[in-house]
Amino acid sequence: MVTKLEQLYEGKAKKIFKTDEQSIYWVVYKDDATAFDGKKKGTIKGKGYYNNQISAHFFKYLEDKCQVPTHYVETVSETEMLVKAVEIIPIEVIARNIAAGSLAKRIGVAEGTKLKKPVLEFCYKSDELGDPMINDYHIAALELASEEELAEIKRLAWLVNEKLSAYVANFNLTLVDFKLEFGRFRGQVILADEISPDTCRFWDSTTQEKLDKDRFRRDLGQVEEAYQEVLRRIRG
Ligand code: TMP
Ligand code: ASP
Repeated sequence: MVTKLEQLYEGKAKKIFKTDEQSIYWVVYKDDATAFDGKKKGTIKGKGYYNNQISAHFFKYLEDKCQVPTHYVETVSETEMLVKAVEIIPIEVIARNIAAGSLAKRIGVAEGTKLKKPVLEFCYKSDELGDPMINDYHIAALELASEEELAEIKRLAWLVNEKLSAYVANFNLTLVDFKLEFGRFRGQVILADEISPDTCRFWDSTTQEKLDKDRFRRDLGQVEEAYQEVLRRIRG
């Protein structure tokens, strides 16, 4: 077992600590919730626990069953996990199967409309700039990732979309869209960050009920219950 050392970084939903093992970071999932670039703030009771457990579950599934390399190492407490000490590539990778959220607004398509083809988007991970949308050319111009890395990011994002959509369908959940982050580790691009109701839209496949952070963003109530329900379903 490794020992937790000094804090490296505090984000909106997680804290990252160094450990006495150079290649391992210690992640603490927080109950804090923000939306709209941090303009809306709150807490969701139990979110740190639910997101830690849900992320661990999805990372294990993707790594063990789908040949997706991830940063997940081990769960160390209700709200904490060990991960590989990646260098985060500052690109938010968003895949979408159904129009919702900012895409529905941007292209004027009703939320809930199934897209004829899934969409992949990139945003530049920068709080000061408000995570602006960018494309392959911006990524090359800013040298955010090499051509090979970007090709691997796209391959993995589509693989995650295919595998995770099919997996959650077993639990009567629809994967509407989601955001991924990748990191560099020992010359390889691997999946990092988290996969949770903070970073995915999950709808009940029968009722279309929202079981994700949109309940917080849009003040829909039953926020904690939605996170709890996602964990309950995937645990079976
Ligand atoms: P959007 O429709 O607001 O652009 O969100 C698309 C997906 O990305 C949705 O599943 C929520 C997730 N997301 C994040 O994980 N972090 C963010 O900062 C934003 C804006 C969205
Ligand atoms: N997490 C982001 C923020 O605080 C946005 C979101 O998830 O809606 O701005």
